Amino acid sequence: MLAAIFLAAGMLSPKVVAIRAAPASQTPSFSRDVFPILRDNCMACHSSAVKMGGLVMESYDMLMKGGKDGQVIVPGKAAESRMILMLEGKVKPQMPFGGNPLPADQLSLLKAWIDSGAAGPAPGEAPVSAQPNIPNIKPEVPVVSPIGSLAFSPDGKMLAVGGYQEVELLDPASGKVLAALKGHADLVRSLAWTPDGRRLAAAGGLPQRAGEIKIWDVASRTLSKTLNGHTDCIYSVAASPDGKLVASASYDKLIKLWDIETGAEVRTLKDHIDAVFAVAFSPDGKRLASGAQDRTVKIWDVATGERLYTLSEALDSVTAIAFSPSGAQLAAAGADKTIRTYALGEKSGSLLESVIADEDTILELAYTPDGKTLISSSADRSIRFRDAATLFPKKVLDNQPDWVEALSVSPDGKWLAAGRYDGSVSVYNLANYEQALGPLVAFVPATGAPKGRESALR
Ligand code: HEC
Repeated sequence: MLAAIFLAAGMLSPKVVAIRAAPASQTPSFSRDVFPILRDNCMACHSSAVKMGGLVMESYDMLMKGGKDGQVIVPGKAAESRMILMLEGKVKPQMPFGGNPLPADQLSLLKAWIDSGAAGPAPGEAPVSAQPNIPNIKPEVPVVSPIGSLAFSPDGKMLAVGGYQEVELLDPASGKVLAALKGHADLVRSLAWTPDGRRLAAAGGLPQRAGEIKIWDVASRTLSKTLNGHTDCIYSVAASPDGKLVASASYDKLIKLWDIETGAEVRTLKDHIDAVFAVAFSPDGKRLASGAQDRTVKIWDVATGERLYTLSEALDSVTAIAFSPSGAQLAAAGADKTIRTYALGEKSGSLLESVIADEDTILELAYTPDGKTLISSSADRSIRFRDAATLFPKKVLDNQPDWVEALSVSPDGKWLAAGRYDGSVSVYNLANYEQALGPLVAFVPATGAPKGRESALR
């Protein structure tokens, strides 16, 4: 039936010969015409690893979903599509960011595709793949790097900031850069200090290719080890309270436990059926909790690697989890905009509280060290503070300049560091919620960007 309709419309005519540019008379195809342009000119900054402006172009669906400011394509209306307006420089910043404008023929092809209705890959057409060309199209000079991760050192004297291929150690009081730890494969998406402050695990990797954890010896600023094993990006790392293990959660659906001292892979925890975004050790080190795209939180026994049980209340991806400092409760949140707290027993967990906490996906969760406040950031560009027991709101810092993808509370409970997609970092005073430092640009690009770290972004 379906085939008959397409046959009648002539849409199943053999498309064996791949032609790059469609003749003007023919409607451009997404897979054949549009995708190669985006892949070659945009993907370096709009991949799922480096989603600048919140926009990912690895598939038709992701492109149509849009970026941090919403949809970028209005089917049928190229002149009203923000992607086109930005390519033409009518909306700033002009795309491709920092590069030469798209050649006129490619621009008109994109416009023709949108004006014709911006259709996705036709049925039966091979799904597009972003992979083959990615390694060759890194931008020459990465522009301002998004902040992928933040972590105060256990003595509170340093703030580790994870960016594109680099970790910086900042003095959280002055914003001064104390050290730069370089050589990471891609964006550093997660950071974990060992409790003694001697080592820092920095994780990330290349999408669809490899996860990477670098263990830094902090005092000497030298690389102690690089741990490879996952086959996709790592989204979260945690160090065990005894300082012996690192746990990593990857897009490859696996969790791994590593021996920090030897770098050996101790165990692989396998039970999630989709990407794992968050991992945390209980304060006593006996349990590990993980949150995943499969909408579950799983609780594991660290000593045996056994999955103890699954918490399945979430209605969408779980992107963030956190244990309260006493270990009495576990908080989980994600794309269903809801924060849930659980009490964890031996054989099951019980839901304590559940609130629709935000207007968009929750990105991060953190408890204050006294366990009284639960802090969340979300894609609605807010940071919210709640009573940890009741989840009643206490304070909101809205109008954040961009998504706050990284949060860290200082060990003395006085400061909250927030890192954003736009590359900025701020430190807030938790006594009065005033900004004490920033916003500063943590990773100053080599050219064309504000000089000096103290310059406010906007
Ligand atoms: C070198 C990096 C880089 C490249 C290459 C690049 N962009 Fe961007 N793009 C960015 C940054 C950074 C932003 C966020 C700008 C802002 O909001 O200030 C952005 C934002 C956007 C947005 C707006 C997203 C939103 O919702 O706000 C669109 C649309 C866009 N880019 C399209 C493109 C297209 C199309 C190409 C390829 C022809 C491209 N970009 C290439 C860095 C890049």
